[in-house]
Amino acid sequence: MEGALIARDRVGVQDFVLLDSHTSETAFLNNLRKRYQENLIYTYIGTLLVSVNPYQELDIYTMTQMQLYRGVNFFELPPHLYAIADNAYRLMCSEYNNHFILISGESGAGKTEASKKILQYYAVTCPTTEQLQVVRDRLLLSNPVLEAFGNAKTLRNDNSSRFGKYMDIQFDFKGAPVGGHILSYLIEKSRVVHQNHGERNFHIFYQLLEGGEKELLGWLGLERNPQKYAYLIQGKCAKVFSINDKNDWKIVRKAFSIIDFTERDLQHLFGIVASVLHLGNIQFEEDSNGHSIIRDGTQIKWISKLLGAHLSILQEALTHRKIEARSEEVLSPLNVDMAFYARDAVAKAIYGRTFTWLVNKINNSLANKDSTRKTVIGLLDIYGFEVLDTNSFEQFCINYCNEKLQQLLIEMTLKAEQEEYKLEGIEWEQIPYFNNKIICDLVEEKHKGIISILDEECLRPGEATDLSFLEKLEEKVGDHAHFVTRKLADQKTRKSIDWVDFRLLHYAGEVTYSAVGFLEKNNDLLYRNLKEVLCNSKNGIIRECFLLSELDNRRRPETVATQFKNSLTSLIEILMSKEPSYVRCIKPNELKEPGKFDDFLIRHQVKYLGLMEHLRVRRAGFAYRRKYEIFLQRYKSLCPATWPNWNGPAAEGVEKLIKHLGYKPEEYKLGRTKIFIRFPKTLFATEDAFELRKYILVSRLQAKYKGRLGKREFKKKRDAAIKLEACWRGVLARKAAKKRSWAVQIIRKFIKGFINRKKPLCPEDVEFVRLVQYNYLMKLRDHLPKNVLDKSWLQPPSILEEVSEMLQNMCIRNLVRKYCQGVPPERKVQLEQKVVTSAVFRGKKEGYQQSINQPFMDTRLKESDLNPRVLQLIQGEKIKYVTPVIKYDRNGFKARERLLVLTQASACVVEMAKIKQKIDYSTLKGISTSNLSDGIVVIHVPEDNKQKGDAILHCEHIFETVTKLCMLANKQNLVKVVQGSLRFRVGSGKEGTMVFTVGQEPQVFKAKNGQLTVVSTQMSS
Ligand SMILES: Nc1ncnc2c1ncn2[C@@H]1O[C@H](COP(=O)(O)OP(=O)(O)OP(=O)(O)O)[C@@H](O)[C@H]1O
Ligand SMILES: [Mg+2]
Repeated sequence: MEGALIARDRVGVQDFVLLDSHTSETAFLNNLRKRYQENLIYTYIGTLLVSVNPYQELDIYTMTQMQLYRGVNFFELPPHLYAIADNAYRLMCSEYNNHFILISGESGAGKTEASKKILQYYAVTCPTTEQLQVVRDRLLLSNPVLEAFGNAKTLRNDNSSRFGKYMDIQFDFKGAPVGGHILSYLIEKSRVVHQNHGERNFHIFYQLLEGGEKELLGWLGLERNPQKYAYLIQGKCAKVFSINDKNDWKIVRKAFSIIDFTERDLQHLFGIVASVLHLGNIQFEEDSNGHSIIRDGTQIKWISKLLGAHLSILQEALTHRKIEARSEEVLSPLNVDMAFYARDAVAKAIYGRTFTWLVNKINNSLANKDSTRKTVIGLLDIYGFEVLDTNSFEQFCINYCNEKLQQLLIEMTLKAEQEEYKLEGIEWEQIPYFNNKIICDLVEEKHKGIISILDEECLRPGEATDLSFLEKLEEKVGDHAHFVTRKLADQKTRKSIDWVDFRLLHYAGEVTYSAVGFLEKNNDLLYRNLKEVLCNSKNGIIRECFLLSELDNRRRPETVATQFKNSLTSLIEILMSKEPSYVRCIKPNELKEPGKFDDFLIRHQVKYLGLMEHLRVRRAGFAYRRKYEIFLQRYKSLCPATWPNWNGPAAEGVEKLIKHLGYKPEEYKLGRTKIFIRFPKTLFATEDAFELRKYILVSRLQAKYKGRLGKREFKKKRDAAIKLEACWRGVLARKAAKKRSWAVQIIRKFIKGFINRKKPLCPEDVEFVRLVQYNYLMKLRDHLPKNVLDKSWLQPPSILEEVSEMLQNMCIRNLVRKYCQGVPPERKVQLEQKVVTSAVFRGKKEGYQQSINQPFMDTRLKESDLNPRVLQLIQGEKIKYVTPVIKYDRNGFKARERLLVLTQASACVVEMAKIKQKIDYSTLKGISTSNLSDGIVVIHVPEDNKQKGDAILHCEHIFETVTKLCMLANKQNLVKVVQGSLRFRVGSGKEGTMVFTVGQEPQVFKAKNGQLTVVSTQMSS
């Protein structure tokens, strides 16, 4: 209910006890409708569950839901079948007592579905073992078998249970389901031979014809067509869209194999089913004497085969009746009507008893053989109050049954209430309610009740009829306040009652019964000779159902009503010894459609189910009661004195709490262990306050909790960080230590190597030496000379001196080679010339150093600059070099501008178009220059007449000219660099002297002493 309190505004109240106007049927219906429209099909009245058939699959029966309700306090979750089932189970386990769950409601309200769901809940949630799995499966699979034989399509329900069922589930001390037992009540046998329009016979007939294997049908003499069988087509709807007979057949066959049916059992069983179908097709006609005879012998032959009965005896039994006259037995032929009656009676009898046999067989397979004590939960799925257009004997029995169950319910609820008040020491307040004992007595009282009167009529000799029965009723119970017939009724009521009717004023309302058929149905006669045939049947099941001892028993068997009354009495006894739970099922509309809430229909059921009555009883005193501990636990936060903890007794805590909340004295009572609250509004106000308080508390708690979580998280992280750091430091330290010890070894090796480095290679020094070599070579690689002029070289360690030298040489050679390869031919010629120049002048003549950088030209003047005449004179000698010179003649040393032309073979001094002097290289005697920077060159020639004397020339490019000359003449060694003076030949045997001095200005002049004086300036170095 606590859950209900929270949800109350959204979808009505989850417990009718909390309805403000609890006596208003309209308020009740409104609440039910509101919830139904939200697909909330369950609502409580205290611990009673009201269930409205949803006519659609709802997502509320999943495994998750089952687990959700398992072991949870009854009132904590929204109302559910599982809560009822779980509550009964838990009470059974903890108190070790027996329980039952009574499921009632009208046809199609969902009783059978509810009982199956409860069974499933136990199968899934209860502890089990592999061995018990079999029991579990049998418990679950007993349903399809019983439904096949006991359910049928009716106008109100496509799978209507046509029998009442009480099933005990047995649990061992651990709470595991270990066995079961089923009691069945009043199977509707008449359906076997007759169905109303739109209804069918029991499912099994159609299943067999649709699903049965070809061979099986052949063996049974059946055709796969329900239309061929008179018993199957009276309702004209053998085929129903919502039923899959073929599939259901498979399920039933599988169930049979699990519930331990042998092939032989099944043969006999299907033999009986087939026999019923054949019986239905037997037709009688009148012979000439007006006696009945069987028109066609085919069916009777099949029946004889399938039931193992002698053909002719069977034939005779169906058309004759054995009458015992004194000690003689006489066979009296039946007329056609009576023969049909006998035929139908056989069909009903064998089907009815086979059903009982089936239940017993299932019970055997569910029976738990060990004798340890067990507790049980009983599931009672029984027809609810039935009011049809015409109500007959069956409705009379059913409604009587409901009267009894209502009585039980009220008694048990009142008893429980009263006991609770007593236990709690609260004064019992009388609750006004309708006690239906008076009606139960009207029906069942010995000698005076309707059943006794009916039995009397059935048993008395003479012509008893339904009308005589009615008269007897009027006579004996006519003055009963709850009994009316047309004769007894007042003017107004009379119109609605027929002459053959009687009306009972049930607790739930008036029901008019038609007395027609009461006697026959109550007698349920089967002619003795037919019984004899069946008792001698070779079909094992029939033989078990019709015991020979029955024939010897001369006492009349008990009538149907008495049997029913007795079985009901024992059922009530069974139930009285157990703790009850109730499920009341309501059918929302006649159309079997989801979402349709038919107010009229439901109002009717609310009334017939006695729900208002029940609510009144539950709410008579107090709307709410709870143990002090639970109440305090829930609401303690509403009072500072009880929050957060109350240390005294819970009762005192509650007292403090309600004082603080301002409860008025008439609103509550305090019992020994519980608080009782009279009005829902008091509770709602408390609940609202609690909701508000909860928000505050929750946010406070959340904040605290979040803080704590944060702290915990932080601490966890910090601890983790510290641990990580420590680990990492350890790793680093180990790494460093490893490195250190490695380094020590290396250093030691290095020192050893160093000490032994001078030794020839040996293990002590080899690594050191290799390292030194390696290092030197690697360093050397980066410091090699870049070009031929780079003379740098890395200083080698002593052990590599030799190698270093070799490498240096190689390197220089390589550089030179590379350099040489890179020099172009013209430059090569130049360099060769420079080399010669160097050999001749280096360190000897001033200005050499400065000349090194000045490249030599191929020639200073081109061949074309020469006079053609000169060229002609040279006569094809290849001209190699031409430069302007100044020639000092021999006589006055006068300076004359001339050209010096060097050819392949000679040097010529040319003046315009004349060759003034030609000196063959072969005759060249020498070449002289001074050591100063004067530019004077003297080409010495031999002393012969032809020669003019030595040529004294001043060249601007002295080094170039002299080099070219001496190279062309190939007389480098003849070049002299003189100091101070030189002697030269003037010609014709005369010699002159040339003096070289340094002065302010360069000049060449003939000195007074006749010497040629050459003054040159000092070159700045
Ligand atoms: N909880 C449910 N969820 C979905 N459908 C349901 C539920 N309960 C009942 N039904 C539907 O209603 C139909 C009738 O239900 P059920 O056979 O249980 O009725 P009943 O009360 O046993 O009727 P009868 O007295 O005729 O045996 C079911 O076949 C099913 O289609
Ligand atoms: Mg049912």
